[in-house]
Amino acid sequence: MSKSERLFSRARRVIPSGINSPVRYYDPYPFFVSKADGSIIWDVDGNRYIDYCNGYGALLLGHRRKEILSHVLSQLKKGTLYCAPTQIEVELSELISKSLPSMQKTRLVNTGSEATMTAIRLARGFTKRKKIIKFEGCYHGAHDYVLVKAGSGAANIGLSVSDGSLEEVSKNTLVVQYNNSQELDSVLQREKDIACVIMEPVLANMGLVLPQKNFLNDVRKITSEHNILLIFDEVVTGFRMSMGGAQTYFSVKPDITTLGKALGNGFPIAAVGGRSEIMDMLSPGGKVYQASTFAGNPISVSAAIASVNTMNKLKSRLYPQLERSCMKLVSAIRDLASDMKIPHQINSISSMFQIFFTNMPVVDYSSAKAADTEKFTRLFRELLRNGVFVAPSQFETVFLSYAHSNENIRKTITAYEKSLKMVKQ
Ligand SMILES: Cc1ncc(COP(=O)(O)O)c(C=O)c1O
Repeated sequence: MSKSERLFSRARRVIPSGINSPVRYYDPYPFFVSKADGSIIWDVDGNRYIDYCNGYGALLLGHRRKEILSHVLSQLKKGTLYCAPTQIEVELSELISKSLPSMQKTRLVNTGSEATMTAIRLARGFTKRKKIIKFEGCYHGAHDYVLVKAGSGAANIGLSVSDGSLEEVSKNTLVVQYNNSQELDSVLQREKDIACVIMEPVLANMGLVLPQKNFLNDVRKITSEHNILLIFDEVVTGFRMSMGGAQTYFSVKPDITTLGKALGNGFPIAAVGGRSEIMDMLSPGGKVYQASTFAGNPISVSAAIASVNTMNKLKSRLYPQLERSCMKLVSAIRDLASDMKIPHQINSISSMFQIFFTNMPVVDYSSAKAADTEKFTRLFRELLRNGVFVAPSQFETVFLSYAHSNENIRKTITAYEKSLKMVKQ
């Protein structure tokens, strides 16, 4: 019996399903991690994998990036939690505003879920309206406002609304098809009590689904016409697609933005920000309540400052290299699958991609759901056997990091070749 298997049976006795977040589970048991460095993650049995799960997109600079470690280590010597303001919180918010000018003011929080929960409460408080609109398959965290037709783990187990969520809450979350601005417009013609539209500008929780030409511009235009706030959930895309996130990449300006993941490059930190007049609604200055013991804690803040400064310093090489490596990988996988006559689609942008086993273009929740997920699971297992770790579900994305070397990319192509051959059988 492997060490991972033994640990999993121990874990199941004390941790529900043996894991601390549902997306980490796969049959018959997940590998347990011993350590990670750069682009590599090792399990407790000594197996090594090239990591493309990458903290579900958080590790843009790879594991244990030296500038971040040294910054955090020097902060550790000065204390871990003060629950009183610090200069570094101010510096981080200034850095964020500089990278994403639409975020004139930010509140720092710990997780993406907290950020989106606060963004929605702010939108309701600002507009004095009740309902919100989200898109099918977008995932904005594990809280009741947004756990309706959500992507990621919820799509994996086919949950439309979680047990335990109040109908009184979920009925105020209206759901519209991604890439369908006409549907959005007609819902807004009909419904009068809408506070905001929240969306992933690139849908990275349904596999990877790209916004079609003009979709983001149309959403911006429609929300403005109806006087409704637009929230870009950039927990995945912020700092990943560019220093200014997807909003800079596509030149579309939201009213509120949420950040997470790459902001702290592996440390738990997130942020919600937007126009000053909206952000000033937050308590104690305003009446929209938001609070957290660990918000703006100096460890996560120092990690985020080092991450943003490092990304800034590297940006002229960072983003082109990520994009080049991703394109190389994607075009090789596409050629392999085509040569093997495996029906497939690959969606990719910047440093993200996903393969779907289907003949139909994947443009929304239902076309992603129509892909052959069993084939994807077989691919996942084979990739793991061949030393490549991608997220275990079709409804996640493959993330590259700056730590992936050309050698890693070559080995990954070989792993996909061997794995696709097995998938075909
Ligand atoms: C787009 C998006 N928003 C929000 C979240 C929630 O973030 P967290 O898991 O940090 O609560 C996620 C997590 O995967 C996400 O991908």
